[in-house]
Amino acid sequence: MIEYNSSKGNNMSATYDAASQYRVTASPVLSLDQIKYAFEKRLAELLPSSGNPGDLLTEAMQYAVLGGGKRLRPMLFLSIVRDLGHNAPALFDLAGAIEIMHAASLILDDLPCMDDAKLRRAQATVHIKYGEDIAMLAAVALLSHAFHIVACAKDVSANARICFTSILAQAIGAQGLAKGQYQDLHHVPQRPVADVARTYALKTGALLGVAIEMATTVAQTSAETTQSLRQFAAAAGQAFQIRDDLLDVGVGPAAAEGEINSKDIGQDARKATLPSTLGIVAAHLRMVSEATQAYFHLDVALGPHNQTRSLLAALFPQCDARNIPAPVND
Ligand code: IPE
Ligand code: IPE
Ligand code: MG
Ligand code: MG
Ligand code: MG
Repeated sequence: MIEYNSSKGNNMSATYDAASQYRVTASPVLSLDQIKYAFEKRLAELLPSSGNPGDLLTEAMQYAVLGGGKRLRPMLFLSIVRDLGHNAPALFDLAGAIEIMHAASLILDDLPCMDDAKLRRAQATVHIKYGEDIAMLAAVALLSHAFHIVACAKDVSANARICFTSILAQAIGAQGLAKGQYQDLHHVPQRPVADVARTYALKTGALLGVAIEMATTVAQTSAETTQSLRQFAAAAGQAFQIRDDLLDVGVGPAAAEGEINSKDIGQDARKATLPSTLGIVAAHLRMVSEATQAYFHLDVALGPHNQTRSLLAALFPQCDARNIPAPVND
């Protein structure tokens, strides 16, 4: 075993066990807020910086990634891995690759030919600030940079790097997020609920699923735990996109959290969403049901005291069946 500190960017020390690769214990025990802080520091370091003030492409890449955001996908990955008893500085880089892919997908999603959004993370969208040409180039550069980070990740075996590359490629590509975005933009006017849910699974669930697939690979989970975490990801992806679509009509937990001021709303007027298909009340109930299932599968996979459930609690505060008081019979 060798003791090492990450080269830069986070304050965790860990013991690297060459035999089991990730069987390491981190000290000190960090809260999720501290992990997020350390992760964001590392994320900034992972991005290219030319040092040239005229390099608008690099500036746009940094603008897209570092300008806020919930960091849900990387935090899910980091938190689940910790709940599974594993840790290592290299995991911050893998988490960074996931977040960078997500940021690239948001640049594309906001383009005039897609959702034509002006506001993202409470600031001008990348194409509004830098122009469409630079926005498209920044998205392509971020996507390829994410693969580069995975390919170069230290303390990760060659096999694991190939595996992570494939997981990311499939999630973002024509069988994943890109397909979901296509379906979101090109569909018949009336869509069955199950069709809309399938689109959610692709455009949103696929990238959440990356966090889970990478975590289960790192922790080498049993078939049962892997299955429960996949069920968690599927339910959380559905709940998360309904939450987002409710925000678009100004209601639900995201609106209550003030996210309404962070991006354009009213964008889905011509889209088939679950709120537009089912109605707002039924969509809200469906979100609660999916979120409740997400908590359930998480507890099955990670045990009742897992730290990851607090990430869910921040998104779906009233959906944790454990916190719903039993009815009182007089
Ligand atoms: C926005 O994702 C796109 C959806 C899939 C709804 P987030 O809501 O995670 O956006 P950020 O990263 O917090 O800005
Ligand atoms: C998800 O849907 C977008 C991506 C998969 C990138 P939305 O288009 O509703 O996301 P927002 O509302 O713009 O964040
Ligand atoms: Mg969209
Ligand atoms: Mg959008
Ligand atoms: Mg939306």
